Amino acid sequence: MALKKAKILIRKGKKQYFEDLDRDVTIVKEKQFYIEDLSKDFSTPYGSMSKANLKKTGTVKSSQDKEFRIFDASFIDNYKRIRRLPQIIPLKDIGYIIAKTGVGPDSVVVEGGTGSGALVIFLARYCKKVYSYEIENEHQAIAKENVDALGLKNIVLKNKDLCKSIDEKDVDLVCLDLPSPWDAIGPASGALKPGGFIISYSPTIIQTADFVNALLARDDFVHLKTVEVIEREWEVDKRKVRPKSKTTMHSGFITLGRKI
Ligand SMILES: C[S@@+](CC[C@H](N)C(=O)[O-])C[C@H]1O[C@@H](n2cnc3c(N)ncnc32)[C@H](O)[C@@H]1O
Repeated sequence: MALKKAKILIRKGKKQYFEDLDRDVTIVKEKQFYIEDLSKDFSTPYGSMSKANLKKTGTVKSSQDKEFRIFDASFIDNYKRIRRLPQIIPLKDIGYIIAKTGVGPDSVVVEGGTGSGALVIFLARYCKKVYSYEIENEHQAIAKENVDALGLKNIVLKNKDLCKSIDEKDVDLVCLDLPSPWDAIGPASGALKPGGFIISYSPTIIQTADFVNALLARDDFVHLKTVEVIEREWEVDKRKVRPKSKTTMHSGFITLGRKI
């Protein structure tokens, strides 16, 4: 399936200071639209945008003479629209996994469970090839839809149990995001090349401890570290600069090991 050609349309927000109120008031609310169907006019609360304008890049005006900016949707804009199963790995954790293992254009990776395909999509964006295992047909179908929507061709989705066996050999990374990662250590050992990395991503510290203890009990892996990546978003509005009150504090624990 071809990569989606979508557009991002933004109406920039505007604030104005009102002396009587002694504060800034929003006079234009910032709005962003993701437009997939470029073959027909697009309706916004500020008038409709003609299909001729949807083909442009830069500044365009709606039927109500309101100004918008328009540009091609990027990988991350398309990624944000993928279909999501409840337990999707967040970007902060994906970034850490990619940076810490240093995987790149020469790397071959095994990953599972596929779930919505969030992690496999990012691994495939940077690596040569990714093999992803999933036992649930329904989850695999959602992941396939997402992978196709992003136009990625270097992913092999497998409807198989990763804890039973891994077909690939000499891989650079095995990445586990499944309920019993300790059961996958044996197959991962057979698949990894010496020096290859094993990652386990688990929502609870009990699963994490069981995985690390199982890894430590073997002589073919070293445990490098277990971390929790905390992202704290800040609000910046003139001199009102402070942490946002609503922040996701916990997602999962990442354990990093290495085949020796
Ligand atoms: C938490 S989800 C993975 C989410 C995925 N990393 C993402 O961000 O979209 C865990 C997935 O592992 C699958 N799974 C569980 N045990 C498995 C196994 N032994 N082999 C392959 N997949 C498995 C589940 O069906 C589920 O879809």
